[in-house]
Amino acid sequence: MASQILVCLLLVAVASVVVDCNSEGDALNAWKTQLVDPNNVLQSWDPTLVNPCTWFHVTCNSENSVTRLDLGNANLSGPLVPELGQLSNLQYLEVFGNNLSGAIPTEIGNLTRLVSLNLQHNQFTGVIPASLGNLVSLSFLNLNGNKFSGIIPSDLFLLVQRGNLRVMNVSDNTFAGTVHRGNLTVTTIIQDPKAS
Ligand SMILES: *[C@@H]1O[C@H](CO)[C@@H](O)[C@H](O)[C@H]1NC(C)=O
Ligand SMILES: *[C@@H]1O[C@H](CO)[C@@H](O)[C@H](O)[C@H]1NC(C)=O
Ligand SMILES: *[C@@H]1O[C@H](CO)[C@@H](O)[C@H](O)[C@H]1NC(C)=O
Ligand SMILES: *[C@@H]1O[C@H](CO)[C@@H](O)[C@H](O)[C@H]1NC(C)=O
Ligand SMILES: *[C@@H]1O[C@H](CO)[C@@H](O)[C@H](O)[C@H]1NC(C)=O
Repeated sequence: MASQILVCLLLVAVASVVVDCNSEGDALNAWKTQLVDPNNVLQSWDPTLVNPCTWFHVTCNSENSVTRLDLGNANLSGPLVPELGQLSNLQYLEVFGNNLSGAIPTEIGNLTRLVSLNLQHNQFTGVIPASLGNLVSLSFLNLNGNKFSGIIPSDLFLLVQRGNLRVMNVSDNTFAGTVHRGNLTVTTIIQDPKAS
């Protein structure tokens, strides 16, 4: 980290250009600019700080890289943005119980350390990107209570079969077809995974 900061300072000094030393803060700020936040839960998200680790609802590891976003029941409106895919150490993306809308950006599939993707009870639409099959660390996937459509990518069922993905709740959406819990290779859809 110290050496990264030194490199940034040297680049600024030598090249006299503005060097971006806070790319994760910039990614989060790009998201903030797309959100409507009537309760001001993102008030502490100040992109001029050296990193986002002191922002409320953001947790970092010892390398000052973001590992958690805890924004459940925060009354937020707006989309997820592709820039979130740059948070390479993100493990928990918890945005349940908001009024978020739009599709899941394919770039979310870049978050290979993600353990929990909790989008439940929002207004999300569109098909689930096949890129989510890249989320090899994923244990909890809550898509329930949205307006997702299409079929669930078979790659997600592969994640279940390989044993990491333990909870995948897709109920209360507008997916096509029916999935039976006993056969994880079925690629059409689910009501409540518990029910069948
Ligand atoms: C959520 O925000 C809306 C305005 O967008 C407001 O009318 C409502 O009272 C807020 N709800 C809560 C629980 O804060
Ligand atoms: C929910 O989001 C939609 C679209 O962004 C917006 O039109 C609506 O006012 C929001 N509702 C609340 C209660 O914030
Ligand atoms: C992130 O995801 C997008 C879309 O899935 C892909 O095109 C891009 O190469 C990825 N970037 C990185 C750094 O992995
Ligand atoms: C799955 O989601 C539905 C709808 O939101 C909910 O009622 C149900 O309790 C969830 N099931 C589990 C196992 O969490
Ligand atoms: C599981 O689904 C696959 C593909 O649809 C099918 O070929 C297979 O017979 C099913 N297995 C069982 C035990 O139902």
